[in-house]
Amino acid sequence: MLNGKHIILGITGGIAAYKSAMLARLLIKAGAEVQVIMTPSAKEFITPVTLAALTGNPVISEFFTANTGEWHSHVDLGLWADAMIIAPATACTIAKMANGVADNMLVTSYLSAKSPVFVAPAMDLDMMAHPSTTANIDKLRSYGNHIIEPASGELASHLVGKGRMQEPEIIVAEMQKYFAKSQLLKGKKVLVTAGPTYEKIDPVRFIGNYSSGKMGYAIADEAARRGADVILVSGPVSLRPAQPGVTVVPVESAKQMLHECENFFNTCDIAVMCAAVADYAPANPADKKIKREKQDVQVINLVKNPDIAATLGAEKKSGQILVGFALETDNEQTNAIDKLKRKNLDLIALNSLRTPGAGFGTDTNVITLIDKNGTVTPLPLMTKPEAAAALWDYLTENR
Ligand code: CTP
Repeated sequence: MLNGKHIILGITGGIAAYKSAMLARLLIKAGAEVQVIMTPSAKEFITPVTLAALTGNPVISEFFTANTGEWHSHVDLGLWADAMIIAPATACTIAKMANGVADNMLVTSYLSAKSPVFVAPAMDLDMMAHPSTTANIDKLRSYGNHIIEPASGELASHLVGKGRMQEPEIIVAEMQKYFAKSQLLKGKKVLVTAGPTYEKIDPVRFIGNYSSGKMGYAIADEAARRGADVILVSGPVSLRPAQPGVTVVPVESAKQMLHECENFFNTCDIAVMCAAVADYAPANPADKKIKREKQDVQVINLVKNPDIAATLGAEKKSGQILVGFALETDNEQTNAIDKLKRKNLDLIALNSLRTPGAGFGTDTNVITLIDKNGTVTPLPLMTKPEAAAALWDYLTENR
């Protein structure tokens, strides 16, 4: 799975840097080409000569080679890489990555990288447990970086706890698993809806909702990361997909969203309806701005919008998979199962507004997957990209 892959191995100044030599060796044995970037302090722990000899490539550490003045382009490196692994990642480098402090070659290359990034933290247990470190690691997760959790055991300080860099074999296995997954949806066409819909009252006002679109965009990105061709029919949000395999079709109202979904559903293999579609729209949107009237009460007549998921559910052909979301405030499972049946869905992801960390606007979600065969799979609190990955794991493992 790593055969022919270009991998940047970032090494920072921690005692676990001695394990990076083994990591470089294992990556090369797996068929990868490895370019090492070291922070200046990493060179206190392991010599660049060792890594250059193992990888066959000169180690990069500074922006310029001192004697020749040759410039190392972090932008070119970022484009070259199919993956980046930072191991060991110290608390300092993690903080710099989380906050864009681009004061060395490693962090500038990280900021330029378009590839997946893996981070293997290594530090003392108290540093690892410090709220500053955990917040920075959470930030990296929210950027879509893959954290390879450190193990527990005896640390360089002789204290025992969580903070040991994962063994090189485990890091390589995690990277291989990632690339294996990246093939799972190859050749599949996926349709995703995301965001709110805006239903026009007049040229300056609309009825909308608080949906940020984050969950739908994460689902679309993750499908593309796994090789799918993705159409993302998106209501008005301020997001952009992170993956080139996602084509955004912007819409505003529920009717427009239905129209675009109908265009693409016929040829898609899997559709995930994540949009928070307005159930009603003003019956007669005004052409001109409605002026403030003398009366204290203004009435807007609303008419029912089409149910996009139910419409696609009725048109679904054998072999197509239709997934919905249910956002509930009460009787959660009963309501979700009712929607699953009513809309002819294959799977519904239930999230409750009563669960802390779930729902609109947040960066995290807590979802329960309910299959049409009755299997209920509750998932823990996750970032939205992690929840999206869990959804695709479920779909690829259970279908
Ligand atoms: N949905 C849709 N079109 C609509 C309403 C909802 O496609 N007009 C989809 C959503 O994208 C979601 C699922 O149906 O996948 C459930 O949405 P939700 O708003 O929870 O349910 P509703 O059917 O609108 O029911 P209610 O508002 O009564 O909870």
